[in-house]
Amino acid sequence: MTKLSDVNSKLLKARYAVRGKIVIRAQELEEQGRKIIYCNIGNPQALRQKPITFVRQVLSLLEYPALLEQPGAEKFFPADTVRRAKMILEKNPAGTGAYTQSAGIPFIRKAIAEFIEKRDGIPADPNRIMLTDGASKGVHTVFTLLTNKANDGYMIPIPQYPLYSAAIELYGARQINYFLDEKNQWRLDEEELTRSIEGARASGVNPVAIAVINPGNPTGAVLSRKNIGMVIRFAKKHGLAIMADEVYQENVYGEGLEFHSFAKVMHELGEKEVTLFSFHSVSKGFLGECGHRGGYLEIRNMPDDVYAEVIKLLSIGLCSNVDGQIVTYLMAAPPQPGDESYELYSKERAAILGDLKEKAEILGKGLNEIEGMKTDIPEGAMYAFVRFDLPHPKGIDPEAMSPDERHKYEAARDSKYCLRLLEGTGICVVPGSGFGQHPGTLHFRTTFLPPKEDILALVEKMKKFHASYVAKLRES
Ligand SMILES: Cc1ncc(COP(=O)(O)O)c(C=O)c1O
Repeated sequence: MTKLSDVNSKLLKARYAVRGKIVIRAQELEEQGRKIIYCNIGNPQALRQKPITFVRQVLSLLEYPALLEQPGAEKFFPADTVRRAKMILEKNPAGTGAYTQSAGIPFIRKAIAEFIEKRDGIPADPNRIMLTDGASKGVHTVFTLLTNKANDGYMIPIPQYPLYSAAIELYGARQINYFLDEKNQWRLDEEELTRSIEGARASGVNPVAIAVINPGNPTGAVLSRKNIGMVIRFAKKHGLAIMADEVYQENVYGEGLEFHSFAKVMHELGEKEVTLFSFHSVSKGFLGECGHRGGYLEIRNMPDDVYAEVIKLLSIGLCSNVDGQIVTYLMAAPPQPGDESYELYSKERAAILGDLKEKAEILGKGLNEIEGMKTDIPEGAMYAFVRFDLPHPKGIDPEAMSPDERHKYEAARDSKYCLRLLEGTGICVVPGSGFGQHPGTLHFRTTFLPPKEDILALVEKMKKFHASYVAKLRES
């Protein structure tokens, strides 16, 4: 029988907090009949967000094309969904049950190029776009492509979405932390990037790429065009590729804020040497189609011989799932004014995004009213990264600890807090140590996806819990 000692040590070392111990405990409690508010993961439809009708109608017709011939089908399927399904079947006659080209169905890649052209006003090449099973697969593709030597390292933000730190472990690469500036709404700072890369080089690490998540997970911050330009110049100066994780591009709520893609800023800067990998997904935005595992990876500034290796890599996995490809197509090419579905589609879209904006504010404001908690009102994405203070038990002085001891002590503190919060209130959040945080600070990440009434209840429960937890620590 396979023993744990037989298992790939890189896998054993990898950590993925958003589905870690606390979530396993939440599932146990749920099985025992407890009501759990799952705020641990950006999985909108699991938290009662309804799928966009247009997407599901087209998918249904494609999964069971006999519906197209059924008398009365027009009652359930608006004429444009029928036209769309017929068009897709014409362009992809083998249907959803057949493998596609490794990079994905050609007309879908073309539609994504048009989507980027329209979004950014810049040219895009369908032959540098590939469909992936969610953005996660695109990220793994880049790690496989670029991790070459044992000292190759990736600059990742702290705090970060733990896909990046886990992939670094899995691929045997080195993690290079750069800290986001909590006091400055989690912006990127050039001095910090320089400190980070110089420190890495001094310890023998060879930085190959910098990952940026915009809008940010877990921070909820939206980067300015200037900040993005700074990263591009930094990458050029240091010979780095850029991994731009843009899965939350539709989720921007802050007044006057706008999403700027790395592709657009790079084009404006006339940058032709820095390789850019951009990721997008159907899981977030207002579609929330996490289970359909759709997304794409767009690559810029890559020579043909390297690109051929990317295609070879994709071909080893045959292709991404076809339903995911279709949903990605529908995200890139939604109904247009004049289409029968347009009105409902626009209404559903506005309702979901409006609701998220409102919930971001309710949650942010509510948590800021709790003594000992502080968070920025999320400007984007689906999360608040909340800082909280806890007194140290008597006789414990973290200043006297080694950095390693302190890291363990702090990670144990935020994990214990989140576990007790779960057991005491049914609220499932993720400890900040799962994303990384400045030494000496404690955080947790919560989504604002649950229905409004659950968010209001959550704030109330947290307030009571936090006060009693702090009081007990003071007594201990
Ligand atoms: C920043 C970020 N990137 C990538 C992903 C992965 O998304 P997907 O479902 O497209 O694989 C997530 C999921 O939460 C995310 O937050």
